[in-house]
Amino acid sequence: MEDKVVVNKKVVLKHYIPDGPATESDMELVATDTLRLRLPPGSTAVLVKNLYLSCDPYMRSRMTKHDEPSYVDDLVPGTPITGYGVCKVLDSGHPDFKIGDYVWGITGWEEYSLMTSTEGLFKINHTDVPLSYYTGILGMPGFTAYVGFYEIGSPKKGERVFISAASGAVGQLVGQFAKLMGCYVVGSAGSDEKVNLLKNKFGFDEAFNYKKEPDLNKALRRCFPEGIDIYFENVGGAMLEAVLRNMRLNGRIAACGMISQYNVERPEGVNHLFAIVTKRIRMQGFIVFDHFRSYREFEEKVVQYIKEGKIVYVEDIAEGLENAPAALVGLFAGRNVGKQLVIIARE
Ligand SMILES: NC(=O)c1ccc[n+]([C@@H]2O[C@H](COP(=O)([O-])OP(=O)(O)OC[C@H]3O[C@@H](n4cnc5c(N)ncnc54)[C@H](OP(=O)(O)O)[C@@H]3O)[C@@H](O)[C@H]2O)c1
Repeated sequence: MEDKVVVNKKVVLKHYIPDGPATESDMELVATDTLRLRLPPGSTAVLVKNLYLSCDPYMRSRMTKHDEPSYVDDLVPGTPITGYGVCKVLDSGHPDFKIGDYVWGITGWEEYSLMTSTEGLFKINHTDVPLSYYTGILGMPGFTAYVGFYEIGSPKKGERVFISAASGAVGQLVGQFAKLMGCYVVGSAGSDEKVNLLKNKFGFDEAFNYKKEPDLNKALRRCFPEGIDIYFENVGGAMLEAVLRNMRLNGRIAACGMISQYNVERPEGVNHLFAIVTKRIRMQGFIVFDHFRSYREFEEKVVQYIKEGKIVYVEDIAEGLENAPAALVGLFAGRNVGKQLVIIARE
């Protein structure tokens, strides 16, 4: 390997931001640091070239300074933003990773990263599917869909499943898993283009544009005249309230996320919570990190589904590190159509 020193461009958080919307100008691209593309003798680190970066909603929370520890660490202003990504190993002192391997896990929003901890770093076993899939369908969001639907949702054939933010990185996959299981599946999304994808690409039975529905309760009653067995919750707020009114007896709510609340100054209240009691609903939150021990089982199953054409996946790809902040912020305005990722380099 050539021993060279490069200027390592990176995107940093400029400052902590208070509750409320994050903007592109809270982040900046800097090109001041240099990095030697070879590890010193005796190092146990892994040096990688970043290829694809994942934009995920939870990253917003990390931009605010928390007084109490949060479920994810706060970012550190002035240092590269960290998040999931797909990388190529350039040098390694770690026995599990060798030069030329492709890996996915937590990396930096920069061209090259030096990983001193390899906890949560997965070697990519299948390079005959697009590597970018390891930011989405075969990475953290895909595994979230798998855990949330099968483990938390406890689905049965023929049940009625509702998914919010249904065309996104997680939602599109939940819907396809539910169809493979023989469920009746409905999704909500924020544009007609996304609704079209749900019905005509991902095979949902029904879908609606929640921004065009004057009454979410009525929209759900229209799609589920007999009620909802499983709600895959991505959004929270008014949608959760409407869902509670339409759940069936012994229904399950897999509480995956509540994106409508991530950028607000004051969290919204939710009415009709008593339905959880009267309808014997099990509402359970989950965090994907707690389940990574079954990742390999998921990876094998979903790679097979992809190869057999049983599952498709839509990505929204931004080009270049300099466009990463806009791509991340766009998640909260619904600008992404499918899984939002950023290409830094192809090889
Ligand atoms: N529990 C876990 O371990 C875990 C892991 C991964 C993700 N998650 C959660 O899963 C959910 C989906 O994540 P994802 O990665 O798949 O994102 P995504 O759906 O690909 O992108 C976010 C989407 O959320 C919708 N949205 C944004 N602001 C909204 C608002 N105010 N009200 C309603 N919808 C809004 C937009 O779609 P529309 O155009 O349809 O509005 C946007 O495209 C998020 O809540 C995320 O936090 C949880």
